Amino acid sequence: MNMNENNVNDYDAFAEKRHYEVTNGMKKSLRFVEKPMMISMLPELEGKRILMLGCGTAEESELLSKYNPKKITGIDISEESIKIAKESYPNCDFYVGDMLSLPFDNNEFDFIFSSLAISHVEDKDKAFKELYRVLDNDGELLFSVGHPMRFATKKIEYNNKYYHAIGFEVGADGVEVIGNYMSHTKQVNYFKDNEVLEEFIAPPSYFFEVLLKNNFEIENFKESQCIEECINVDEAYYKRFHEIPQFMAFLVKK
Ligand SMILES: C[S@@+](CC[C@H](N)C(=O)[O-])C[C@H]1O[C@@H](n2cnc3c(N)ncnc32)[C@H](O)[C@@H]1O
Repeated sequence: MNMNENNVNDYDAFAEKRHYEVTNGMKKSLRFVEKPMMISMLPELEGKRILMLGCGTAEESELLSKYNPKKITGIDISEESIKIAKESYPNCDFYVGDMLSLPFDNNEFDFIFSSLAISHVEDKDKAFKELYRVLDNDGELLFSVGHPMRFATKKIEYNNKYYHAIGFEVGADGVEVIGNYMSHTKQVNYFKDNEVLEEFIAPPSYFFEVLLKNNFEIENFKESQCIEECINVDEAYYKRFHEIPQFMAFLVKK
């Protein structure tokens, strides 16, 4: 299933490559930044019914199964990703579906884990309503999204170098604003191999507002920091994402 006509967010096309790279520790953003942040925020999972939302090829099921949950279910809009997930992790249940209209009963899960998927959806209010519905009372949701300090920046040339910049300049002609920190806007990010990802990035305050409006209790919030283990693999990457948050995560309770 193609998420849209422009081949943007075509997780079907990149499913196999993604699975290979993640299982071989080649995705630095996940290995050294996003997953360490998510692991540090996990609640008690023993005996819980877990939903992995936007699970992709579901490598995260290996991580979550270590905590002895009762059951792990995964859902993703990409058919190809779910095909690989089913083949690779037969102990979990997988579904193809949209987080805006989940094929699950009310109160079906104790914990929802969602890595970097909710930012693909523009209607966050609808998504959080749906997640609240399928969570059991006192159930928790842990999710990560792109941080505006990284994903709402604009690439500019300065002194013959390229910078991801956010800020402003006041000159004789008025003010020029670079990047958009406060807006909830579509950002298109280009990666190597012509992989293009479209996301709807927003500041932490936007998420706090929508979560509170949907009756979630906020339990924890973090901005990501690249871990030291990355220094030996890629020092430049470490320097960049130790100081500049690439992602942020929220732990909330129904
Ligand atoms: C960056 S990937 C993350 C995959 C996995 N959670 C991980 O961390 O490796 C984002 C995933 O969100 C899925 N996705 C995007 N929009 C979705 C939607 N509306 N409903 C369900 N999944 C969606 C994509 O297909 C993709 O697999």
